[in-house]
Amino acid sequence: MSQSIESVLTETRSFPPPPDFAKDARVGSFIDYESLYDRAAREPETFWAEIASELAWATPWKKVLEGKLPDGSNPEAPAPKWFVGGKLNASVSCLDRHAASWRKNKAAIIFEGEPGDTRVLTYGQLHREVCKAANALTELGVREGDFVAIYMPMIPEAAVAMLACARIGAPHTVVFGGFSAEALRDRILDAKAKIVITADGGWRRGQIVPLKENVDKAVIGTAVSTVLVVKRCDTPYTWHDRDVWWHEVVTPASPKHVAKPHDSEHTLFTLYTSGTTGKPKGILHTTGGYLTVAAYTSKLVFDLRDDDVFWCTADIGWVTGHSYVVYGPLANGATVVMYEGAPNQPGPDRFWQIIEKWGVTVFYTAPTAIRAFMRWGDEWPAKHDLSSLRLLGSVGEPINPEAWMWYRLQIGGDRCPIVDTWWQTETGGIMISPLPGATPTKPGSATRPLPGIAADIVKKDGTSCGPNDGGFLVVRKPWPSMLRTIAGDHERFVKTYFGEVANCYFAGDGARKDADGYFWIMGRVDDVINVAGHRLSTMEVESALVSHPKVAEAAVVGRPDELKGQAIVAFVTPRMGFVADDALARELREHVVKEIGALARPEEVRFAEALPKTRSGKIMRRLLREVASGSAARGDTTTLEDQGVLERLAQSFAQDE
Ligand code: WT7
Repeated sequence: MSQSIESVLTETRSFPPPPDFAKDARVGSFIDYESLYDRAAREPETFWAEIASELAWATPWKKVLEGKLPDGSNPEAPAPKWFVGGKLNASVSCLDRHAASWRKNKAAIIFEGEPGDTRVLTYGQLHREVCKAANALTELGVREGDFVAIYMPMIPEAAVAMLACARIGAPHTVVFGGFSAEALRDRILDAKAKIVITADGGWRRGQIVPLKENVDKAVIGTAVSTVLVVKRCDTPYTWHDRDVWWHEVVTPASPKHVAKPHDSEHTLFTLYTSGTTGKPKGILHTTGGYLTVAAYTSKLVFDLRDDDVFWCTADIGWVTGHSYVVYGPLANGATVVMYEGAPNQPGPDRFWQIIEKWGVTVFYTAPTAIRAFMRWGDEWPAKHDLSSLRLLGSVGEPINPEAWMWYRLQIGGDRCPIVDTWWQTETGGIMISPLPGATPTKPGSATRPLPGIAADIVKKDGTSCGPNDGGFLVVRKPWPSMLRTIAGDHERFVKTYFGEVANCYFAGDGARKDADGYFWIMGRVDDVINVAGHRLSTMEVESALVSHPKVAEAAVVGRPDELKGQAIVAFVTPRMGFVADDALARELREHVVKEIGALARPEEVRFAEALPKTRSGKIMRRLLREVASGSAARGDTTTLEDQGVLERLAQSFAQDE
């Protein structure tokens, strides 16, 4: 693979861990990291057992690991199991043991609402709230194994709801509050949820997001018989027989609840994410393995201490919110900040104000946010005292070296290490990341895999790539927090993750390793696009488009976007008799918002009388990607059915710009 001059330049630029940081860090030198990595590779089961033993187990496991990575050619091949025979309750590891210690009156959640209201819940209080919610859910008929859909704003009750579900063994399925009623309904149906926990609304950029109204639309035609509603915004609502107020059933419930331990392999949650087809995948995680890695990575990557104030800005609707707002930090007895709203409400310095106000020490956010901050100007962070910060993190998409440097200088005061963490909904926790006291960092590289994670870059046949050769990012050995299946579609699980590269978990990303063994993630190699750190399938947006009565055919591609990483471009052929004009483009954009949510709104809609196809009828996305990014179509077009189509598409571009 040829390297650009920029990447060679940035690779020579390396930042060693600051000596003050390394001095007290959990892993304090690169040699220590390497020896830990080697030990884990030699004896993975001993290594993971040691880490898992830091959780509160009610019954010890009999076997650390059972099974291996599934054989991709056997659609029924089971996923490996971890800590087999062991029993634990995730909410006990996150709460009871801290509430029973000196941490009882330590802040667990510091909440800041967008309008400026604040609430602090200590471990003692959070424990009581979760016990109340567990009792109330039981009273409402929720039993072990029942799926509970959670569609909530970023308020403490969201974490309480998740932990209460975990407590009673009812797997949760959190749906991001930015998803539309339609998208929520699909997930409710797929998960067969009978109860939805929501709020009347949530605050976002000074507006109320009508969550309850969306739930009312979403539950029509589903098995949902109960909707539990937190009153957050005092906004008008319609009430139905199935609705119950949180303050009428949870608040008065008993704060005592004895948690029953669950099997290590008991389902903790499913979380939907986009794959290469139109149907989102319900990624299924289990209790013991998931919690082990969430806790381990929080401790190692964020070097969490009892006096830290940890702020991960992700919404609980994404896996980052599950692992680094709720389960990981709480399992460590840490203090987390939870913020409800937008980063620029009321002004572009809201985040910096929060950091100053609460003395945030570890801050974890996404490159898209960092690039927006850059654009808003250096004066906003400069207005605030950010000296409490000691560590910065990035997640969700590749971070460009410019944004990395800006983050380091303007937010980290050239003092804080940056951890660029690569992982996925499927991996449950961070897989590739610097250890802040040990790993010299290079802007744009997620550096090395964590101890215990056998990540590699390979060719299609599974052989390792040489230095700087681009290839597929894979994991060669099971790890405790790997997904166990796709809910209701085990065959898709086996095929997608184990059918591509022999004997490996295939992540769907392309990457290369440099001469120092540092990983550089290049982005998805499948039809998944990453818009502002949110994962979408091109096919999902296409199905939304073709569900519109005026659309005959649609193809969706991602094109590079300076701010969002990728932007969505839709090529649409209207049905006969409909005029392809701006009004239709607007109508289609809003249709996608209604079907999926604002996060999927196409940046551009391009009309074409036909889409470029191969002779066998496959849409040639590679060509469309090139057209969308403004470069003339390169490469082999000889299989193109109608050569004229491409020319006309490129022209329709030129005219519009
Ligand atoms: C995809 C996973 C992991 C939680 C948030 C996203 C991309 C993630 C990085 C990173 C480059 C990254 C990958 C991955 N990605 N982190 N540090 N550098 N790319 O979770 O929605 O499951 O998406 O996000 O493409 O496959 P997700």
